[in-house]
Amino acid sequence: MRIKRLYLRNFRNYSEDSIDFAYNTSLIYGDNAQGKTNIIEALFMISTGKSHRTNNLNELVKHGENYFRILLDFEDNGYDQNIEIKYVKGKRKELFINGVKKDRISDMLGVVPSVLFSPESILYIKGSPGERRRIMDIVLCQVNKDYLINLQRYNRIIKNKNIVLKQLQVGRNEKEQLDIWDEEAALTGFKIIKERHILAEELENRMNEIMEGISEGRERIKIQYKTFKEIDKIQNGYKDLLETITNNREKEIETGISMYGPHRDDMEILLNGKSARTYCSQGQQRSIALSLCVAVMGLMEEKLGKKTLLLFDDVMSELDEKRQKFLLELIGNSQTVITTTEKTKYNALLNNISFIKVCSGKIIKEKE
Ligand SMILES: Nc1ncnc2c1ncn2[C@@H]1O[C@H](COP(=O)(O)OP(=O)(O)O)[C@@H](O)[C@H]1O
Ligand SMILES: [Mg+2]
Repeated sequence: MRIKRLYLRNFRNYSEDSIDFAYNTSLIYGDNAQGKTNIIEALFMISTGKSHRTNNLNELVKHGENYFRILLDFEDNGYDQNIEIKYVKGKRKELFINGVKKDRISDMLGVVPSVLFSPESILYIKGSPGERRRIMDIVLCQVNKDYLINLQRYNRIIKNKNIVLKQLQVGRNEKEQLDIWDEEAALTGFKIIKERHILAEELENRMNEIMEGISEGRERIKIQYKTFKEIDKIQNGYKDLLETITNNREKEIETGISMYGPHRDDMEILLNGKSARTYCSQGQQRSIALSLCVAVMGLMEEKLGKKTLLLFDDVMSELDEKRQKFLLELIGNSQTVITTTEKTKYNALLNNISFIKVCSGKIIKEKE
């Protein structure tokens, strides 16, 4: 898979413009607040169906307009294809693949797989458990349709169950009504837990290989998936989760929320046996975040059997020279879109690079 051209209409600060991407590396440069991240956001959207910055689609529509379109031409397996997202304010977003309307946004997942590395990626390490659940879900949804379906189902179940819990707090429902939701939550929730647990193990292996390159083998990563009980002690699959939930029924009614299951889980990352979240320096956390993103890329490429697009938003200048070199070597034959405010640094670092200048919502292409 290689992306070729991105067309934007009324997206963020772009009225109407298009960008041609290089086979290898495209470097988007420009001053702050010109529209570099907006391009990354559009690509991320085409890849995952969501923005990485907001859940409110209206924010993505250019001020004063009432719709946006993102269209991407790409090539996969020798065939030219395209994928499009269209959103009109007040309506549902629409997806088209090769001009054919798709009913479900999930149809786009895995079509243009991507990995985003940005300054916020450090939150995967130092942020709350929700950040780590998010990266696990982003990866698993792109490589596994069943996972996505289970996740959507699970979220609906928890929403409904919480309504019942709240009703019970004020005596407006029967406790037996929880039986069905507990059973459903445990059944679907456990499928999610299993997939995330496997993912955590795979990421651990890959991250250790990558960390060797960054830290000369002094640092060992360990990743533990944290759930309702220790993974090794789970004996009867989803029944164990169900048992935990029913044993805590009164507590759940009291708080009015579902307290056990994948929506409360975490992926604990340890560096040399210590929690990376609490004990690592910023620099170490950044290295771990980098190795996580590179690990995710390798894993997705293996599972999907195709090349993954790499998006590096404003991260190069944060890395020291050694890590920059290492990263550029690693991504050698992957297609990468990099944004930066300092163009000159890259002239020497990379060849085969195309430069794209961005200035207040306009694309200015330069040949080098
Ligand atoms: N919906 C919108 N309509 C018009 N302009 C927008 C919209 N959303 C963001 N912007 C503008 O986009 C610019 C920020 O773009 P961004 O890609 O984040 O900048 P950077 O080049 O620093 O990455 C700002 O000037 C902001 O005002
Ligand atoms: Mg930016």
